[in-house]
Amino acid sequence: MRRSYFIPALSLLSTLSSAAPSAPQWSFNLKEATSGIVALESIVVSPTLTIFFNRPSVDPLQFNNHSALGALWDLKTSSVVKPLNVISNTFCGSGALLSNGSMVIRHYHLVSVGGDSGAGVANAGNQAIRIFEPCLSPTGEDCTLFENLETHHLFERRWYASSIRIFDGSLMIVGGTHVTTPFYNVDPVNSFEFFPKKEGAPRPSPFLERSLPANLFPRIFALPDGRVFMVANNQSIIYDIEANTETILPDIPNNVRVTNPIDGSAILLPLSPPDFIPEVLVCGGTATDTIDSELLSTQTPASSQCSRIKLTEEGIKAGWQVEQMLEGRTMPELLHLPNGQILITNGGSTGFAAIGSVADLVGGSNADNAVLTPSLYTPSLPLGRRISNKGMPTTNIPRMYHSSITLTPQGNFLIAGSNPNGNTTMTGVKFPSEFRVETLDPPFMNAERPKLVSVPKKLAFGQKVSVPISIPRGLRTQDIKVSLMDLGFSTHAFHAGARLVFMDATISPGRDLLTFTTPPNGRVYPPGPATIFLTVDDVTSEGAWVMMGSGASPPTLQ
Ligand SMILES: *[C@@H]1O[C@H](CO)[C@@H](O)[C@H](O)[C@H]1NC(C)=O
Ligand SMILES: *[C@@H]1O[C@H](CO)[C@@H](O)[C@H](O)[C@H]1NC(C)=O
Ligand SMILES: *[C@@H]1O[C@H](CO)[C@@H](O)[C@H](O)[C@H]1NC(C)=O
Ligand SMILES: *[C@@H]1O[C@H](CO)[C@@H](O)[C@H](O)[C@H]1NC(C)=O
Repeated sequence: MRRSYFIPALSLLSTLSSAAPSAPQWSFNLKEATSGIVALESIVVSPTLTIFFNRPSVDPLQFNNHSALGALWDLKTSSVVKPLNVISNTFCGSGALLSNGSMVIRHYHLVSVGGDSGAGVANAGNQAIRIFEPCLSPTGEDCTLFENLETHHLFERRWYASSIRIFDGSLMIVGGTHVTTPFYNVDPVNSFEFFPKKEGAPRPSPFLERSLPANLFPRIFALPDGRVFMVANNQSIIYDIEANTETILPDIPNNVRVTNPIDGSAILLPLSPPDFIPEVLVCGGTATDTIDSELLSTQTPASSQCSRIKLTEEGIKAGWQVEQMLEGRTMPELLHLPNGQILITNGGSTGFAAIGSVADLVGGSNADNAVLTPSLYTPSLPLGRRISNKGMPTTNIPRMYHSSITLTPQGNFLIAGSNPNGNTTMTGVKFPSEFRVETLDPPFMNAERPKLVSVPKKLAFGQKVSVPISIPRGLRTQDIKVSLMDLGFSTHAFHAGARLVFMDATISPGRDLLTFTTPPNGRVYPPGPATIFLTVDDVTSEGAWVMMGSGASPPTLQ
């Protein structure tokens, strides 16, 4: 059952374009340059640069005569700036920016990949932590990765863990497995730890015990009161870091599981003043409790269920509200748009994450039937009417296991990667290793946009800030939104750390001055780098890259 790439899109496009010939549309745009490595992880590290990481393989981009494990991608020129010198294995890691702007990436370090993977990476040590210092050069010349496996490492070996920045600007690292696993989590690390370390040992987690065996890459969010929401398998909790207690929340309804290898995805919906009431949305995954992967199929339908819960006392009592996407989705990714909508994209409509484990593989893939048309979820609409793909374009590039996507400071989405194979595989499979890079461009990318003329580089919490702006004629200033965003870290169908906090804002009568109020504290927006976007009449500006808080090294409360 192959999906038709273009018929519905074409007929829709012709109707729209005859009605309004110049109205800009959503579009996918293929870049001329390729990513050089499979972009299985992606994080924006400066206003102009994104880092891609891959595992050791035989990708074309070389560093010291072996395939590079990391690459810096220039968002302005849409090309690879340079391969990064990565000493240890990057496979299945996670990362985030700290309160001082350094990017920390936590990777399991394989003990003996080097030679036989063709990658030639050094092998000593494990539990690697890498630091990418804030990178000031717009073109990345002086931007390097720091690794010292002796001094910077975790308590535990963790493969497939998730990491987020928390209220004091440090990194919290959750779960994972000690060893590479063919499918389920067979050697779990059911604990949490922090970077920098807060204590002498990891914290055991009953939640991770309960959510075995499908609890890899747990979906975790820093809540606006400093606690952390977590969902894994079909279970969810709120974890209190300061009290070291967990509050059990209702299961995801209808037997649906949502974490690796049964990947759905999850997102913290935008937080709005004055109360910043948190709500979590979880979409896709699969309704199965089959443990034996040999009994699962690439054709097993993925769930179309989206479940949403409000994390207040009444909201938790009311439980998860359920509605359906237009199709089932395994390995979807959910991302914020600066206007508060959620993009649902990537993945397939049948099968599972991981490689080479189910009975009827498609090449190496455990999944099939790529979903090629994104949808938009509008949180403010009534239940059952929130999801639509009206006006959304269709791509012809599947983004299956080991793909990534990120919102950029320019306001569009950068999509790369996909490789559901055990190695770099270019031919003979339905889903080859993917080096093509696309952007998904919202209509405003082709319109005259509002502009944040200048924004201070550093902003304090709870502060009123006025900045010069310009607004194109024709845009109505009754409808303005100012969003403070963490662009997150994308891997394995989860955008860890992604966050959107709306700020109260007004525009001067002359339309040339914007005044907004920053979040009250680091619980609402963990101190660290942020991107500010101004949306006027649903047309979004380019983002301004700022440091929210003092820029001090963690732990810091400002
Ligand atoms: C890479 O290979 C070339 C050709 O074999 C050789 O001249 C060069 O010294 C090598 N560079 C490194 C860094 O090993
Ligand atoms: C990947 O392919 C290369 C080139 O064919 C080969 O040398 C290497 O052993 C393969 N690696 C794995 C992990 O199969
Ligand atoms: C969650 O999973 C457990 C274990 O498979 C199962 O017993 C329970 O019924 C599931 N919960 C829901 C709401 O489906
Ligand atoms: C940021 O903090 C981390 C953790 O303490 C530290 O390793 C890193 O060097 C710091 N970076 C800067 C630029 O101060």
